[in-house]
Amino acid sequence: MAEHKITTDRRSILHLSDLAEITPSKDAVSANRIVGFNSRDSRARPFSLLRTSLIKKLKENNHRLVGITSASPAAGKSFLAMNLASSLARVSEEPVFLVDLDLRRASLSEYLGTAPEVGVESFIEQKTDRLGDVGYSISGTNLGLFPCVQRDQDTAELLAGTGFSRMIEQFRNESEASIILFDLPPVFANDDAMIILEQLDSYIMVADAGKTTRKQVEEVVAMLQPTPCIGSILNRYKGGFGDSYGYGYGGADYSRYYEQT
Ligand SMILES: Nc1ncnc2c1ncn2[C@@H]1O[C@H](COP(=O)(O)OP(=O)(O)O)[C@@H](O)[C@H]1O
Ligand SMILES: [Mg+2]
Repeated sequence: MAEHKITTDRRSILHLSDLAEITPSKDAVSANRIVGFNSRDSRARPFSLLRTSLIKKLKENNHRLVGITSASPAAGKSFLAMNLASSLARVSEEPVFLVDLDLRRASLSEYLGTAPEVGVESFIEQKTDRLGDVGYSISGTNLGLFPCVQRDQDTAELLAGTGFSRMIEQFRNESEASIILFDLPPVFANDDAMIILEQLDSYIMVADAGKTTRKQVEEVVAMLQPTPCIGSILNRYKGGFGDSYGYGYGGADYSRYYEQT
């Protein structure tokens, strides 16, 4: 009996090993400065710090599904999501999943120089009801990537549909991932980030040093309520604890980074 139960459970849960394997292009990984896979790269160090701080917060709050967003485009969300997820996957016993939900400007598969045939759009449009069909395991790592390969303009309809809720539900209840990171669109662009975040546990806010203002950060936090901001990353920050790339990670008390604006 017990053995039977274990078999059933195992089959209904999505495992990293169920996903088709893809191998990132070394050139793309290097050109796009994805350093999180490699612990010996000194540029990966700031991500280890972000990672440790994030893991602690997620545990404290019992959160698993976390979005990464910003006020405006090109703040560095996808770059940071890719580096952070690969860095998290290096230390996590259970797999880490990274999902591209910037449906209009998806970029994660390109960051790795891969060109998968289908992505999350296919599940959201209900062309498949198997989440495992739209995810890929990154060879040699503990990271599962759920890319978006077909950009769609009519995202409001997609996000309002049952396919989208079912996808989030499956990630939450039927996947073995310890952390599921969702790369989102910017909040000011349209409603997408707001709609998606209603169904996630919390989010990380990326601010672009010198560009994002304190007022914008406050507006974003207000717009996304009641979903909590679990931390903030000040990207392209010179003089922070990070290295020449400049990243700083703070708690929900994001405002301390904005004293001079
Ligand atoms: N800290 C950084 N150091 C170097 N390049 C960066 C950094 N942050 C972002 N970039 C680059 O800036 C561009 C925009 O970043 P991206 O993550 O795609 O923005 P977003 O997803 O917020 O729209 C990309 O080419 C990315 O590689
Ligand atoms: Mg992006």
